[in-house]
Amino acid sequence: MIKIESLTFQYDGGGEPALRDISLDVEPGGFIGIIGPAGAGKTTLARAIGGMVPHHYKGDFYGSVIVDSMDTVENRMTDISRVVGTVFQDVESQIISSVVEDEMLYGLENFGIPRGEIEERLTFALRQVGIEDLRCRTIASLSGGQRQKVAIASIIALRPKVLLLDEPTGELDPGSSRMVFSLLKEMNERYGLTVIVIEQKIMLLSEFAKQLIVLNEGKIYCSGPVRQVLERAKELEGIGVNCPRVASLAISLKEAGCGEMPVCINVDEAETMVRGLLR
Ligand SMILES: Nc1ncnc2c1ncn2[C@@H]1O[C@H](COP(=O)(O)OP(=O)(O)OP(=O)(O)O)[C@@H](O)[C@H]1O
Ligand SMILES: [Mg+2]
Repeated sequence: MIKIESLTFQYDGGGEPALRDISLDVEPGGFIGIIGPAGAGKTTLARAIGGMVPHHYKGDFYGSVIVDSMDTVENRMTDISRVVGTVFQDVESQIISSVVEDEMLYGLENFGIPRGEIEERLTFALRQVGIEDLRCRTIASLSGGQRQKVAIASIIALRPKVLLLDEPTGELDPGSSRMVFSLLKEMNERYGLTVIVIEQKIMLLSEFAKQLIVLNEGKIYCSGPVRQVLERAKELEGIGVNCPRVASLAISLKEAGCGEMPVCINVDEAETMVRGLLR
């Protein structure tokens, strides 16, 4: 679905490349989590997948990004955005209407969705995100978290093949964050969407994503299935990635002489492991 080959990108005016020699392949139906310290290039990578780099953000672009068989440099943003639905890190900059329903209609009308289909898409997206009650509200009256949900619903209504979200739970409390991830899981499993999400809440991400990509200083530091990446939790702490404490538990226990332990990715697994040791 997405194939990136040797991508290097330096923003105009940037002192050094924001992305360096990135190559990656995302299969259709993948659920990818992107993590990394501040300034690692996560948002820039998302912009490159969505075509904003290099269409909106100018700079030196080397290598290629192919999304659903489209080369992002050779194709127009309007065509790329039909395939990749993006929820930006800065949700405020994404919302342009003053009422929730109008915001959602804007995208649908822009895409030329037939009138007869619009109502069904609107109600589906509002229901999926659990904000049917916000439909007629003004954006100004919404909390940050509610705005984030409106941005997500607006994208879901457009039915892209790829959902790309840059820190979608930044403004959300733990309950709503989990709700967003459950929604992504449903879109991924039931509707086959490819999901790519940049997220600081690594514990939550680890529970839902199938693969993790760790970025550091514009490069892929490591990538692979969630467990395989989290086995390197201590090393990742060293580059400024705050892994869940349960992930480094196995390493700490090994260092304390308890032998080889499998990595845990949630509290239940950690509890089972510790209980086993105490038996
Ligand atoms: N529009 C821009 N113009 C010039 N440089 C930029 C621009 N946007 C980002 N950069 C630079 O590119 C590098 C990567 O930034 P990016 O925003 O992609 O990192 P990030 O991993 O998303 O960070 P964060 O965790 O803070 O969101 C940084 O050095 C940043 O200063
Ligand atoms: Mg960012």
